[in-house]
Amino acid sequence: MRNDLQQTLIDRGTIAQRVRELARQITADLAAEEHDGEITLIPVLTGSIIFVADLIRELPQRMKIHLISASSYPGTATTSQGVKIQETLSNVPDDLTGRYVLVLDDILDSGQTLRAVTRELNTRNPQALKTCVLLRKRRTETVDFPLDYAAFDIPDEFVVGYGLDYDGYYRNLPHLGVLNKDALEQHA
Ligand code: IMP
Ligand code: MG
Repeated sequence: MRNDLQQTLIDRGTIAQRVRELARQITADLAAEEHDGEITLIPVLTGSIIFVADLIRELPQRMKIHLISASSYPGTATTSQGVKIQETLSNVPDDLTGRYVLVLDDILDSGQTLRAVTRELNTRNPQALKTCVLLRKRRTETVDFPLDYAAFDIPDEFVVGYGLDYDGYYRNLPHLGVLNKDALEQHA
């Protein structure tokens, strides 16, 4: 699998260190709020699974987790095909009054996914609604999206590993990388 990568973009040690740092920052920000300190995490499946598993073990707060699922890159598409939020929004309580909510996704690309998710969650009246991603791609669209946390800014390339997939594969790579042309063609 490693041979399918043109380049390792971020190695696992660097990811682990940055995830710990991010958890400390989230914890400090929450402590500065008028709030009971309990959080509601809303991970967007499937790409965020590894990031979320690592991040939550660095967060000491009382928390509830509600999983939702969205997809915009069906199969071998490497550009967004329009976002679908599956019926999983019903996993989230209809009323988020008083809750400090943190939405977690793997990557901010066009921003469509988080725009759709936050639009919906805002109607449920949370006390705070924050967004956090592992990766933010440097593109003009992402500049507009008011993210609260991003672990890494990356170039506008299609990346896999640490939860992120291409055609469903490569999520189990422990590091993040860019696929080479051969690997992309093999799946096409
Ligand atoms: P957006 O809606 O365009 O911001 O795309 C966000 C979603 O697309 C992410 O949650 C990912 O699942 C997927 N995605 C975007 N870019 C990549 C990539 O480079 N590799 C793998 N998945 C990606
Ligand atoms: Mg996703």
